[in-house]
Amino acid sequence: MERRNFIQALFAAAGAASLGARAAGPSADAYATAFAASRAAHRWTMGYVGLQADVEPMPLTLRGRIPADLTGAFYRNGPARHMLGGQRYHHLFDGDGMVQKYSLSERGIVHQGRFVRTEKFLADSAAGRPVRAAFGTNPPGAEPIPAPDAINVANTSVVSHGGELMALWEGGSATVIDGRTLATRERRVWSPEYAGMPFSAHPKIEPDGTLWNFGITSSLGLLSIYRVKPSGELASATTIKVPDIAMVHDFAVTERHLVFLLPPLVFDRARSEAGETFLDSHVWKPELGMRVLVLHKDRLDAPQWFELPAGFVFHVGNACEDRGVIRLDCIRSPSAWNATVALKELMQGRYEAHEHASVALLEIDPKAGRARQSLLPQVAEFPRVDPRIVGRRYAQVFSAARVDAGDRPGFDAVMRLDVTSGRHEVYRYGADLMVEEHVFVPRRNGSGREGDGWLVGTALDLKREQMLFSVFDAQQLAAGPVAQASMARVMPLGLHGIFVHA
Ligand SMILES: [Fe+2]
Repeated sequence: MERRNFIQALFAAAGAASLGARAAGPSADAYATAFAASRAAHRWTMGYVGLQADVEPMPLTLRGRIPADLTGAFYRNGPARHMLGGQRYHHLFDGDGMVQKYSLSERGIVHQGRFVRTEKFLADSAAGRPVRAAFGTNPPGAEPIPAPDAINVANTSVVSHGGELMALWEGGSATVIDGRTLATRERRVWSPEYAGMPFSAHPKIEPDGTLWNFGITSSLGLLSIYRVKPSGELASATTIKVPDIAMVHDFAVTERHLVFLLPPLVFDRARSEAGETFLDSHVWKPELGMRVLVLHKDRLDAPQWFELPAGFVFHVGNACEDRGVIRLDCIRSPSAWNATVALKELMQGRYEAHEHASVALLEIDPKAGRARQSLLPQVAEFPRVDPRIVGRRYAQVFSAARVDAGDRPGFDAVMRLDVTSGRHEVYRYGADLMVEEHVFVPRRNGSGREGDGWLVGTALDLKREQMLFSVFDAQQLAAGPVAQASMARVMPLGLHGIFVHA
């Protein structure tokens, strides 16, 4: 049996019975009803209403001047269809992906958005209701799932590599889309053997253009690793078995190593087979601690393990090697509460400030066999770095930050943090602005120094019911945006973005 068939057969055996077997928790209508009831009292819910259709191109109103070297497109992906046929999804990560594009030219800024036409999007649309399972929802009477891509919603991030723009999810294939029209093309096949295998939403592109990524097949306890040439051609792919496979969303590369942080949110196959959603098939086992898996790039079959205190991590900013010690920054929370509880409550229009994620700095010493962490007070998410120093010595991390957002979820500021000194600079948009991920863009023909460039990103203005697109001098965040544009339509709050120069 070919490996692909083998893997898909095993997936079917392990997963098909579990996906769609029954709806867990409150009924779908209960989520829709709770969210509708919360709308009037909680303005922030407007960011999670979602859309039912693509959005046509619309010009923005610009204040200030877009820097001349900043022509191109800012793309953002995110879950955008949270409800269909009266059924509201139960988790923020369930909705179908929409790729938004802000086109920047000398004529101004134009926005458009288009749903990725995944197999699931088409099947659900044809039925007029969700008929396939999602990350945190098993719709009543859902169809059996023969392979991960049957439920791929392509809703998490975008990457531009090897001349292709791809919408990414973490449980299945990358989806190639047209960078100009946002039309969906096809699922990316890296090799016949790896067709349909998970390809995460957080690939890392090294300064030489090499792309590294991973994928986790939870039902089989497998971690796959991809090394892709700058041309987009697969250089190699490897799969290793990992005990107590965990929910891992992101990873890091250094000059010599790959680093995975495994929070103790562990996949339990028995729960899955009993019909729990994929999310609820995971169990919090703090006794395992936060396991750190380090793989040498040339010896991917020889894992080194380290342990840190239990915690949960979605995102890693960057990592590097400093005199043989791996230095890494990430956003850590004390537990998986955000992932397992808060993002479900969000879909019911509820928010409780139970715990926040903040910056953690790690040091992993492979020679001494030791890992350490230090916790910083800044509440942040969506860390991004200068793409020219991915996996290399670095200091600056840009992120969304929470300074004083009050009684609502999300972020109200952007931050530049020097992880070598702890110094940081913040620009606060304000409590009425829900800040999305901001992306660093190097200045073309600039000094080439780390951090010489622009920070660009979007925010939802809850009072004016409009979207803001802002451009900052990345070294002068506190001075405020050098240019800002607005658009009188509300878009669903999304996840990750990129900037692609014209
Ligand atoms: Fe992410």
